Amino acid sequence: MNYRHAYHAGNFADVHKHVALVAILLHLRRKETPFAVIDTHAGRGIYDLSSEEAQRSGESEEGVARLSGHEAQSPALAKYLEIVRSFDAQNYPGSPLISDLLLRSQDRLAAIEKHPEEYAALRAALSPFANARAMSGDGYAQLSRLLPPPERRGLVLIDPPYEEADELYRVAAAFADAYRRFANGIYLIWLPLKENAPADALIGELRNAGVSKLLSLTLDVGRAANEPPGNLSASGLLIVNPPYALNAEMRNAGEELLPLLHRGPEASFAVEWLAGAP
Ligand SMILES: C[S@@+](CC[C@H](N)C(=O)[O-])C[C@H]1O[C@@H](n2cnc3c(N)ncnc32)[C@H](O)[C@@H]1O
Repeated sequence: MNYRHAYHAGNFADVHKHVALVAILLHLRRKETPFAVIDTHAGRGIYDLSSEEAQRSGESEEGVARLSGHEAQSPALAKYLEIVRSFDAQNYPGSPLISDLLLRSQDRLAAIEKHPEEYAALRAALSPFANARAMSGDGYAQLSRLLPPPERRGLVLIDPPYEEADELYRVAAAFADAYRRFANGIYLIWLPLKENAPADALIGELRNAGVSKLLSLTLDVGRAANEPPGNLSASGLLIVNPPYALNAEMRNAGEELLPLLHRGPEASFAVEWLAGAP
Protein backbone atom coordinates (compact mmCIF):
# COMPACT_ATOMS: atom_id res chain seq x y z
CA MET A 1 0.00 0.00 0.00
CA ASN A 2 2.36 2.69 -1.23
CA TYR A 3 -0.30 4.73 -2.99
CA ARG A 4 -0.85 8.23 -1.66
CA HIS A 5 -3.64 10.24 -3.23
CA ALA A 6 -1.84 13.42 -2.10
CA TYR A 7 0.20 13.22 -5.35
CA HIS A 8 -2.94 13.20 -7.48
CA ALA A 9 -5.51 15.25 -5.54
CA GLY A 10 -7.26 17.82 -7.69
CA ASN A 11 -5.92 16.41 -10.97
CA PHE A 12 -8.10 16.20 -14.10
CA ALA A 13 -9.33 12.73 -13.11
CA ASP A 14 -10.41 13.96 -9.67
CA VAL A 15 -12.28 16.83 -11.34
CA HIS A 16 -14.04 14.40 -13.71
CA LYS A 17 -14.97 11.97 -10.92
CA HIS A 18 -16.02 14.63 -8.43
CA VAL A 19 -18.25 16.47 -10.94
CA ALA A 20 -20.03 13.15 -11.66
CA LEU A 21 -20.30 12.51 -7.90
CA VAL A 22 -21.92 15.92 -7.41
CA ALA A 23 -24.30 15.35 -10.35
CA ILE A 24 -25.49 12.05 -8.86
CA LEU A 25 -25.94 13.48 -5.36
CA LEU A 26 -27.94 16.43 -6.72
CA HIS A 27 -30.31 13.83 -8.20
CA LEU A 28 -30.58 11.85 -4.98
CA ARG A 29 -31.49 15.07 -3.13
CA ARG A 30 -34.53 15.62 -5.33
CA LYS A 31 -36.57 13.17 -3.24
CA GLU A 32 -37.19 13.82 0.46
CA THR A 33 -36.56 10.19 1.41
CA PRO A 34 -33.14 9.55 2.97
CA PHE A 35 -30.22 8.08 1.06
CA ALA A 36 -26.87 6.55 1.96
CA VAL A 37 -23.47 7.11 0.37
CA ILE A 38 -20.82 4.41 0.76
CA ASP A 39 -17.32 5.44 -0.28
CA THR A 40 -15.21 2.25 -0.36
CA HIS A 41 -11.82 3.93 -0.93
CA ALA A 42 -12.31 7.28 0.73
CA GLY A 43 -8.77 8.65 1.09
CA ARG A 44 -7.93 11.30 3.69
CA GLY A 45 -10.85 13.66 3.01
CA ILE A 46 -8.86 16.84 2.52
CA TYR A 47 -5.61 17.39 0.61
CA ASP A 48 -3.05 20.15 1.08
CA LEU A 49 -2.10 21.24 -2.44
CA SER A 50 0.95 23.05 -1.05
CA SER A 51 2.34 19.77 0.38
CA GLU A 52 5.61 18.38 -0.92
CA GLU A 53 3.77 15.49 -2.65
CA ALA A 54 1.30 17.76 -4.46
CA GLN A 55 4.01 20.24 -5.44
CA ARG A 56 6.28 17.49 -6.71
CA SER A 57 3.63 16.01 -9.02
CA GLY A 58 2.12 19.36 -10.05
CA GLU A 59 -1.03 17.46 -11.08
CA SER A 60 -3.54 19.87 -9.56
CA GLU A 61 -2.03 22.65 -11.71
CA GLU A 62 -3.35 20.79 -14.74
CA GLY A 63 -6.60 19.98 -12.99
CA VAL A 64 -8.60 22.04 -10.55
CA ALA A 65 -6.26 25.06 -10.83
CA ARG A 66 -7.30 25.43 -14.48
CA LEU A 67 -10.89 25.99 -13.33
CA SER A 68 -10.07 28.99 -11.18
CA GLY A 69 -12.19 31.94 -12.22
CA HIS A 70 -14.38 29.79 -14.47
CA GLU A 71 -18.08 30.62 -14.28
CA ALA A 72 -19.83 27.31 -14.79
CA GLN A 73 -23.02 26.87 -16.79
CA SER A 74 -23.68 23.23 -15.99
CA PRO A 75 -25.38 22.86 -12.58
CA ALA A 76 -23.16 19.93 -11.51
CA LEU A 77 -19.95 21.78 -12.40
CA ALA A 78 -21.26 24.96 -10.73
CA LYS A 79 -22.05 23.09 -7.49
CA TYR A 80 -18.69 21.30 -7.59
CA LEU A 81 -16.89 24.64 -7.96
CA GLU A 82 -18.99 26.17 -5.17
CA ILE A 83 -17.88 23.34 -2.85
CA VAL A 84 -14.22 23.49 -3.91
CA ARG A 85 -14.18 27.30 -3.51
CA SER A 86 -15.65 27.04 -0.01
CA PHE A 87 -12.18 25.75 1.02
CA ASP A 88 -8.92 27.73 1.05
CA ALA A 89 -7.32 27.60 -2.41
CA GLN A 90 -4.55 25.32 -1.08
CA ASN A 91 -6.99 22.73 0.29
CA TYR A 92 -8.77 20.33 -2.05
CA PRO A 93 -11.74 18.32 -0.73
CA GLY A 94 -11.80 14.60 -1.50
CA SER A 95 -14.88 12.51 -2.24
CA PRO A 96 -16.05 12.02 1.39
CA LEU A 97 -16.06 15.75 2.12
CA ILE A 98 -17.72 16.60 -1.18
CA SER A 99 -20.40 13.99 -0.43
CA ASP A 100 -20.92 15.13 3.10
CA LEU A 101 -21.40 18.73 2.06
CA LEU A 102 -24.29 17.56 -0.14
CA LEU A 103 -26.03 15.40 2.47
CA ARG A 104 -29.15 16.57 4.24
CA SER A 105 -29.84 15.78 7.90
CA GLN A 106 -31.71 12.59 6.93
CA ASP A 107 -28.85 11.24 4.74
CA ARG A 108 -25.76 9.30 5.75
CA LEU A 109 -22.18 8.68 4.64
CA ALA A 110 -19.99 5.65 5.40
CA ALA A 111 -16.41 6.29 4.26
CA ILE A 112 -13.88 3.44 4.36
CA GLU A 113 -10.10 3.76 4.21
CA LYS A 114 -7.50 1.04 4.68
CA HIS A 115 -4.26 2.98 5.10
CA PRO A 116 -3.84 3.81 8.84
CA GLU A 117 -2.49 7.36 8.35
CA GLU A 118 -5.06 8.21 5.72
CA TYR A 119 -7.78 6.76 7.92
CA ALA A 120 -6.67 8.90 10.89
CA ALA A 121 -6.80 12.01 8.69
CA LEU A 122 -10.21 10.97 7.30
CA ARG A 123 -11.61 10.49 10.78
CA ALA A 124 -10.44 13.97 11.78
CA ALA A 125 -11.80 15.51 8.55
CA LEU A 126 -15.23 13.93 9.06
CA SER A 127 -15.45 14.57 12.81
CA PRO A 128 -17.51 17.80 12.43
CA PHE A 129 -20.18 15.95 10.42
CA ALA A 130 -22.81 14.17 12.51
CA ASN A 131 -24.08 11.99 9.66
CA ALA A 132 -20.67 10.77 8.47
CA ARG A 133 -18.86 7.71 9.72
CA ALA A 134 -15.21 6.97 8.95
CA MET A 135 -14.46 3.25 8.94
CA SER A 136 -11.05 1.58 8.78
CA GLY A 137 -10.31 -1.60 6.87
CA ASP A 138 -10.82 -3.12 3.48
CA GLY A 139 -13.41 -1.24 1.44
CA TYR A 140 -14.60 -4.32 -0.43
CA ALA A 141 -15.20 -6.38 2.72
CA GLN A 142 -16.89 -3.49 4.54
CA LEU A 143 -19.11 -2.80 1.53
CA SER A 144 -20.53 -6.29 1.66
CA ARG A 145 -21.43 -5.81 5.35
CA LEU A 146 -23.08 -2.44 4.72
CA LEU A 147 -25.47 -3.61 2.00
CA PRO A 148 -28.31 -3.27 1.53
CA PRO A 149 -28.47 0.07 3.33
CA PRO A 150 -31.57 0.51 5.52
CA GLU A 151 -32.47 3.56 3.39
CA ARG A 152 -32.72 1.27 0.31
CA ARG A 153 -31.56 4.23 -1.77
CA GLY A 154 -28.14 5.61 -2.41
CA LEU A 155 -24.74 5.63 -4.05
CA VAL A 156 -21.71 3.38 -3.80
CA LEU A 157 -18.45 5.01 -4.93
CA ILE A 158 -15.64 2.57 -5.77
CA ASP A 159 -12.39 4.45 -6.36
CA PRO A 160 -9.39 2.18 -5.72
CA PRO A 161 -5.75 3.07 -6.44
CA TYR A 162 -5.26 0.31 -9.09
CA GLU A 163 -1.78 -0.39 -7.72
CA GLU A 164 -2.24 -4.15 -7.72
CA ALA A 165 -2.47 -6.13 -10.96
CA ASP A 166 -5.71 -7.81 -9.87
CA GLU A 167 -7.52 -4.64 -8.74
CA LEU A 168 -10.00 -4.64 -11.64
CA TYR A 169 -10.97 -8.20 -10.77
CA ARG A 170 -11.39 -7.27 -7.10
CA VAL A 171 -13.66 -4.40 -8.21
CA ALA A 172 -15.65 -6.80 -10.41
CA ALA A 173 -16.05 -9.38 -7.63
CA ALA A 174 -16.99 -6.77 -5.03
CA PHE A 175 -19.46 -5.21 -7.45
CA ALA A 176 -21.12 -8.56 -8.24
CA ASP A 177 -21.58 -9.23 -4.53
CA ALA A 178 -22.82 -5.68 -3.85
CA TYR A 179 -25.24 -5.73 -6.79
CA ARG A 180 -26.81 -8.96 -5.52
CA ARG A 181 -27.47 -7.23 -2.19
CA PHE A 182 -28.46 -3.79 -3.51
CA ALA A 183 -29.58 -4.05 -7.13
CA ASN A 184 -31.29 -0.65 -7.29
CA GLY A 185 -28.32 1.28 -5.88
CA ILE A 186 -26.34 3.71 -8.01
CA TYR A 187 -22.70 2.66 -8.44
CA LEU A 188 -19.94 5.03 -9.55
CA ILE A 189 -16.71 3.21 -10.42
CA TRP A 190 -13.57 5.10 -11.42
CA LEU A 191 -10.88 3.53 -13.57
CA PRO A 192 -7.70 4.74 -15.26
CA LEU A 193 -7.85 4.42 -19.05
CA LYS A 194 -4.30 3.44 -19.88
CA GLU A 195 -5.13 0.53 -22.19
CA ASN A 196 -8.54 -0.46 -23.47
CA ALA A 197 -8.42 -4.12 -22.54
CA PRO A 198 -8.79 -3.86 -18.73
CA ALA A 199 -11.72 -1.45 -19.03
CA ASP A 200 -13.38 -3.84 -21.46
CA ALA A 201 -12.82 -6.71 -19.04
CA LEU A 202 -14.47 -4.79 -16.21
CA ILE A 203 -17.40 -3.80 -18.44
CA GLY A 204 -17.81 -7.47 -19.35
CA GLU A 205 -17.88 -8.42 -15.66
CA LEU A 206 -20.52 -5.77 -14.92
CA ARG A 207 -22.65 -7.15 -17.74
CA ASN A 208 -22.15 -10.69 -16.37
CA ALA A 209 -23.37 -9.46 -12.99
CA GLY A 210 -26.63 -8.62 -14.75
CA VAL A 211 -26.64 -4.81 -14.80
CA SER A 212 -29.45 -3.43 -16.90
CA LYS A 213 -28.39 0.24 -17.03
CA LEU A 214 -24.76 1.19 -17.53
CA LEU A 215 -23.39 4.57 -18.57
CA SER A 216 -19.75 5.19 -19.45
CA LEU A 217 -18.11 8.60 -19.12
CA THR A 218 -14.61 9.19 -20.38
CA LEU A 219 -12.39 12.25 -20.32
CA ASP A 220 -9.16 12.09 -22.31
CA VAL A 221 -7.13 15.27 -21.87
CA GLY A 222 -4.61 14.27 -24.54
CA ARG A 223 -0.84 14.44 -24.33
CA ALA A 224 1.32 17.51 -24.31
CA ALA A 225 4.37 17.52 -26.59
CA ASN A 226 7.26 15.63 -24.92
CA GLU A 227 5.00 14.16 -22.26
CA PRO A 228 6.31 10.85 -20.82
CA PRO A 229 4.25 7.91 -22.17
CA GLY A 230 3.33 6.50 -18.72
CA ASN A 231 1.43 9.62 -17.61
CA LEU A 232 -2.28 9.19 -16.99
CA SER A 233 -4.21 11.17 -19.58
CA ALA A 234 -7.66 9.55 -19.59
CA SER A 235 -10.20 9.02 -16.83
CA GLY A 236 -13.05 6.52 -17.02
CA LEU A 237 -16.25 6.36 -15.00
CA LEU A 238 -18.75 3.54 -15.12
CA ILE A 239 -22.15 4.34 -13.65
CA VAL A 240 -24.60 1.56 -12.91
CA ASN A 241 -28.24 2.69 -12.60
CA PRO A 242 -27.48 6.32 -13.51
CA PRO A 243 -30.19 8.79 -12.53
CA TYR A 244 -32.48 10.03 -15.27
CA ALA A 245 -30.86 12.67 -17.52
CA LEU A 246 -27.41 12.26 -15.97
CA ASN A 247 -26.05 11.51 -19.46
CA ALA A 248 -27.21 14.91 -20.78
CA GLU A 249 -25.95 16.71 -17.66
CA MET A 250 -22.52 15.09 -17.90
CA ARG A 251 -22.35 15.89 -21.62
CA ASN A 252 -22.89 19.55 -20.79
CA ALA A 253 -20.29 19.42 -18.02
CA GLY A 254 -17.85 17.61 -20.34
CA GLU A 255 -18.24 20.27 -23.04
CA GLU A 256 -17.29 22.89 -20.49
CA LEU A 257 -14.44 20.91 -18.95
CA LEU A 258 -12.67 19.79 -22.13
CA PRO A 259 -11.33 23.20 -23.26
CA LEU A 260 -10.25 23.95 -19.69
CA LEU A 261 -8.45 20.66 -19.01
CA HIS A 262 -7.06 19.59 -22.40
CA ARG A 263 -3.32 18.97 -22.62
CA GLY A 264 -2.99 17.83 -26.23
CA PRO A 265 -4.81 18.21 -29.55
CA GLU A 266 -6.40 14.74 -29.41
CA ALA A 267 -8.31 15.52 -26.17
CA SER A 268 -11.90 14.29 -26.13
CA PHE A 269 -14.72 13.27 -23.87
CA ALA A 270 -17.53 10.77 -24.30
CA VAL A 271 -20.83 9.90 -22.67
CA GLU A 272 -22.03 6.53 -23.85
CA TRP A 273 -24.74 4.06 -22.87
CA LEU A 274 -23.30 0.56 -22.59
CA ALA A 275 -26.61 -0.97 -21.49
CA GLY A 276 -30.18 0.23 -21.08
CA ALA A 277 -30.17 3.34 -23.29
CA PRO A 278 -33.57 5.03 -22.90
C1 LIG B 1 -7.82 7.01 -5.36
S1 LIG B 1 -7.66 7.15 -3.64
C2 LIG B 1 -9.24 7.67 -3.11
C3 LIG B 1 -9.61 9.07 -3.44
C4 LIG B 1 -10.98 9.48 -2.94
N1 LIG B 1 -12.02 8.53 -3.32
C5 LIG B 1 -11.35 10.84 -3.51
O1 LIG B 1 -11.98 10.90 -4.57
O2 LIG B 1 -11.04 11.83 -2.87
C6 LIG B 1 -7.68 5.47 -3.12
C7 LIG B 1 -7.60 5.28 -1.61
O3 LIG B 1 -7.86 3.90 -1.31
C8 LIG B 1 -7.07 3.50 -0.20
N2 LIG B 1 -7.07 2.02 -0.24
C9 LIG B 1 -6.23 1.19 -0.90
N3 LIG B 1 -6.67 -0.09 -0.78
C10 LIG B 1 -7.82 -0.05 -0.06
C11 LIG B 1 -8.77 -1.03 0.35
N4 LIG B 1 -8.61 -2.33 0.03
N5 LIG B 1 -9.83 -0.64 1.07
C12 LIG B 1 -10.02 0.68 1.38
N6 LIG B 1 -9.16 1.65 1.03
C13 LIG B 1 -8.07 1.30 0.30
C14 LIG B 1 -5.77 4.19 -0.44
O4 LIG B 1 -5.03 4.31 0.78
C15 LIG B 1 -6.24 5.55 -1.00
O5 LIG B 1 -6.39 6.49 0.06
